[in-house]
Amino acid sequence: MSTLPIPTHGAAVAAGSRPKQTVVTLQAKRERGEPITMLTAYDYPTARLVDAAGVDAVLVGDSLAMVVLGHPSTLSVTMDEMLHHARAVRRGVAHALVIGDMPFLSYQVDVRDAVRNAGRFVQEAGMDAVKLEGGRAFADTVRAIVRAGIPVQGHIGLTPQSVNVLGGYRVQGRTAAAARAMVDDALALQDAGCFSIVLESVPAPVAAHVTSRLSIPTIGIGAGVGTSGQVLVTHDLLGLFDDFKPKFVKRYAELRGSVDAALRAYVDDVAAGRFPEDVHTYAMPEAELAAFTAWAASEGAPGGALADGVDGRSARS
Ligand code: KIV
Repeated sequence: MSTLPIPTHGAAVAAGSRPKQTVVTLQAKRERGEPITMLTAYDYPTARLVDAAGVDAVLVGDSLAMVVLGHPSTLSVTMDEMLHHARAVRRGVAHALVIGDMPFLSYQVDVRDAVRNAGRFVQEAGMDAVKLEGGRAFADTVRAIVRAGIPVQGHIGLTPQSVNVLGGYRVQGRTAAAARAMVDDALALQDAGCFSIVLESVPAPVAAHVTSRLSIPTIGIGAGVGTSGQVLVTHDLLGLFDDFKPKFVKRYAELRGSVDAALRAYVDDVAAGRFPEDVHTYAMPEAELAAFTAWAASEGAPGGALADGVDGRSARS
């Protein structure tokens, strides 16, 4: 087991440690001009790692569909699957704001559905907030969820749940008209009550302009440095895939290679009898071993196998 601290959920945080992040502390960071950090997590160990690293917000992204579940797009992940992973992440986070990403069809069909599903993220998975994709067309949905007491993060620019309408994973807002429409979308989401907006795959000047027009934080992914904060998919920054390297990802590690080498070394070690070693093996008191060995011998166990350990190696530590 690692030596990471055991998470303390809720508001009770040990003295001297970081306070629990909220939509208010994120807004305060924006006002101080301090960049906000957000990363994805889909499971408990990753949640503990990103929280311990000091991120402000952890997103249980619907990118889970592709990154962890192996689907070709985000369209396949269901509300129940999202909740399953969100609960695990919640258990691993002590400080960061935890945001549940509303999956395809959990909020597009009607507003009542949207409020109910946003509520499930809070009630069944302990999420602090939800995120949903879309601009002005979803202002009423955002308004209704916020009215229910649930903070909403907007998401415009490249919205992967609309990949079939967009004709692929393309940079958005590249024409002046599209960029102006994005400003309108952002303002509509802010008016509807969003506490923050993700800008995905947007030219840097457009993202910077949108940011300057808002009084809530923008979080960029592939949107340049002019946003209030940044988000990346954790698996991307750790270099866990070698077949997906978008321009906007900075790989802070190349774990794919290290993990591959470690797994192959394990396979080789077991095959060659180099693992487990004495240090990985449990012993028993000498007297108990002697008594057990005598009993096993009387049962007809092969001579010496128990006393010497498998393959003649000692079982004593
Ligand atoms: O699902 C996700 O991971 C996201 C981020 C890319 C913002 O929406």
